Amino acid sequence: MGTPAKSDTAEKIVSLSKRRGFIFQSSEIYGGLNGCYDYGPLGVELLRNIKEAWWKEMTYREDIEGIDASILMHPRVWEASGHVEHFTDPMVDCKECKARFREDQIGELECGNKAYKGRKALKCMEEGKFTEARNFNLMFKTHIGPLEESSAVVFLRPETAQGIYVNFSNVKDSSRQKLPFGIAQIGKAFRNEINTKNFLFRTREFEQMEMQYFIDPKEDERFFEYWRGERLGWFKKYGMRPERLKLHVHEKLAHYAKAAVDIEYEFPFGWGEIEGIHNRTDYDLKRHTEFSGKKIEYFDDQTKERYTPYVIETSAGASRSFFAFLCNAYDEEEVTKQNDDGSTSSETRTVLRFHPALAPVKVAVFPLVNRDGMQDIAHNINDDLRRKFKSFYDDSGAVGRRYRRQDECGTPFCITVDSETLYDNTVTVRERDSMNQERINKDNIVDYLKGKLEV
Ligand code: GAP
Repeated sequence: MGTPAKSDTAEKIVSLSKRRGFIFQSSEIYGGLNGCYDYGPLGVELLRNIKEAWWKEMTYREDIEGIDASILMHPRVWEASGHVEHFTDPMVDCKECKARFREDQIGELECGNKAYKGRKALKCMEEGKFTEARNFNLMFKTHIGPLEESSAVVFLRPETAQGIYVNFSNVKDSSRQKLPFGIAQIGKAFRNEINTKNFLFRTREFEQMEMQYFIDPKEDERFFEYWRGERLGWFKKYGMRPERLKLHVHEKLAHYAKAAVDIEYEFPFGWGEIEGIHNRTDYDLKRHTEFSGKKIEYFDDQTKERYTPYVIETSAGASRSFFAFLCNAYDEEEVTKQNDDGSTSSETRTVLRFHPALAPVKVAVFPLVNRDGMQDIAHNINDDLRRKFKSFYDDSGAVGRRYRRQDECGTPFCITVDSETLYDNTVTVRERDSMNQERINKDNIVDYLKGKLEV
């Protein structure tokens, strides 16, 4: 695998994302909305595949149930969770250019004044241009009903976890689960980040994939270790390069946590958290008991003990994992190109080496040339495949160019109908990473692909 320089890799990934339809700036024709992005035709497939892989891993087992809670919740939820009080970032304003900064990130940020392009915000701070830090709550506020009065305030959820805690008893009673068991959820979360940055890494609207595992408090260390291993294993299983993953153990803990470890990925701009695993103790369930007045407990009918369960949380960003999987897949390599006059030359091939289960399009179908009925055969194959896999038909341009386009989309297999197909029913299957080709009977394509795409 080639390794392009990190500085231009980030720019290349952003540009490829737009060119191939992975990610677009939100409301681009109006100049864009900062910190918000739209997933294009390939992006939405990749995102769905990541979420599907997570959902299968986390809920296709006996001890975890799934839910989908509403984004708007009772405002007391956020008092109980501590978000009203603690979910703040220290913010400073530049008195000169009026730009706003997160005080704890000043070292990484640039001055907001376009006239001083490239100047570090730290320098402005040292020159005394900033106001005193004020705490800024990151929750987006809105109102239920037509009146914008304080009694009608609700928040867009900043995490999906609380929707799980408030449903603990509902899920336990309806599913008849016994401890230990978990509840998983995928959904949107919103944070009014002061400084969004690094493309999809820190945005104002994003998706989370969270699972809360409810346990006997005596077993917290064992399950914390267990989930740390499981979650790291999941990223590796779907092709994350191990050398680009590491664990970061937190010394300074959030108000609710007894232990916390982040899974970090090495993005082109540096290491960044993609998932947090937290021992949240009984903090959340106890706080919801206190604030709602409804007891949230567990009765163990073996030991006859009644207690508030501890929670081990696995909290991954779906959007941030998407970005990590995209960076992880991006590769460039020098390959030999066959020219029209029979000579060869070298060219750079850009390829997204997604795990086949995550690849947005699984298979592309080409007629080698547009004659002798090859298009009809290719169309028929594509129509057949489309019912089972995301497939794509392409008959424009030289076949080499069509391969390159699919490489940039990360399509793991390309099928070409050629003159041999006309008399022996075989087609070539070209594999994206090795570029090896083999001939198979066209009636066996579905089984062939099923075997290759299974995890
Ligand atoms: N329930 C715990 C919780 O929300 P967190 O560390 O604040 O913990 C969990 O967030 C994950 O959500 C992060 O690891 C990251 O992947 C994702 N995430 C958090 N803030 C984000 C943002 N502004 N943009 C994109 N993803 C974000």
